[in-house]
Amino acid sequence: MTLWGGRFDEAPDDVLWEFTADPIDRRLLEVDVTGSLAHVKMLGGVALLSADETARLVGGLETILDEAKTGSFEFVPTDEDVHTAVERRLGELVGEVAGKLHTGRSRNDQVCLDLRLYLSRAGRRRIEQLRSMAMVIVERAEAVGATVVASYTHQQQAQAVPLAHHLLAYAWMLLRDVDRFADALKRIDVSPLGAGASGGSALPLEPGAVADALGLPAIFDNSMDAVASRDFVAEYVFAATQAMVHLSRLAEEVVLWTTSEYGWAVYADRHTTGSSALPQKKNPDIAELVRGRAATVIGGLSAVMALQKGLPMTYNRDLQEDKRSVFHADDTLAGALEALGAMLTDAEFEPPPPDGFVTALDLAEAFVLRGVPFREAHAAVGRLVSEAVDQGRTLADLTAAELEASDTPAVAADVELLDPQTSITRRVTPGGGSMDSVREQLTELRERLTEDPGTDDA
Ligand code: ARG
Repeated sequence: MTLWGGRFDEAPDDVLWEFTADPIDRRLLEVDVTGSLAHVKMLGGVALLSADETARLVGGLETILDEAKTGSFEFVPTDEDVHTAVERRLGELVGEVAGKLHTGRSRNDQVCLDLRLYLSRAGRRRIEQLRSMAMVIVERAEAVGATVVASYTHQQQAQAVPLAHHLLAYAWMLLRDVDRFADALKRIDVSPLGAGASGGSALPLEPGAVADALGLPAIFDNSMDAVASRDFVAEYVFAATQAMVHLSRLAEEVVLWTTSEYGWAVYADRHTTGSSALPQKKNPDIAELVRGRAATVIGGLSAVMALQKGLPMTYNRDLQEDKRSVFHADDTLAGALEALGAMLTDAEFEPPPPDGFVTALDLAEAFVLRGVPFREAHAAVGRLVSEAVDQGRTLADLTAAELEASDTPAVAADVELLDPQTSITRRVTPGGGSMDSVREQLTELRERLTEDPGTDDA
């Protein structure tokens, strides 16, 4: 069935049907019916439907909502889209009065509302998942205590830092992802219903009443913008993509950490896979797939941007394609958070100590505290490094006597600074790689992760 046909002399060709109908919008079934229920009640409220008509339509839609929730709703091959399917089923349930459902509405504002309701719900679930994942990281950071590792720049060991500090970097990234979703939700939670096909309606509709009934705090300001714009979709896909990219960076590390070369972490057998050929292998496939799937989500973000760039006002059928990218991004992020979260929950960290050079800056800064210009301190420690390398030793191997006898402003007590464990207790930068900073971060993160996310409204 189509929702049109009056001006056509022939039925749609199979080729048209095959090409234009896309069952992917069936995922909008539940929100479509939810939107229609609010719409019908509003129509009743402004007397465009009688009380009896309203009651019959509401009854039919509630039955359909039940069918949607229990999975018993049956689509038929001739349903052009999800909106048509609902109206067809409503006709089967309540008869001719179903023809009044579409009063004051177009599929252009309807599909927009559906997508907004869908993303509004999905975004709240993703926020919860991101917060849980950040909490998993907080817990892992607490569990590793004062274990020291090297921070890396250019993939070379740089400074001694608490492993917890390294892990918590990801918790902060995920918290910003939460903020991005929460911010996107402000623009998603806007009702477009009443915009109609593009120019609004001559009927006495009350868009605000529909928005209220749906828990959406705002309505559209311009009916053309309402049906034409998909920046709310793009923002959602970006929030999901950035989160996937964060997870992908973490996943890359999860892979590295379990190599023989790094040896930082061991993952539970149940979260790793074996090799069909190599009996000794234990592979971090979950992490590899998170990394790989991030690529496909990035592709979807490009698609959503490109989809909008050449479209004249207002609704164009091109926009049907936004669903593929946004559902893919959302599903992929949901799956990645679940799987990588499980893998990390049970990860065991036992990193080897950093190399014997990671305290070079600590030593140079000790000279600076004694009034030596940094450039000079840097050169002096550089010479010590070079001598140690020539002797096949490291900075950490130097003795107090050797330090004091060196051509540097070193004193015997500086030898303590060469121990990475000392290094992480002496660092004073707020948010820096010290245990004090780690403790402050843990308090702040726990506070933010246990407070109400404030996204309950819709
Ligand atoms: N399937 C369409 C979409 O997803 C629904 C809106 C169709 N509107 C129309 N006038 N054909 O965008």
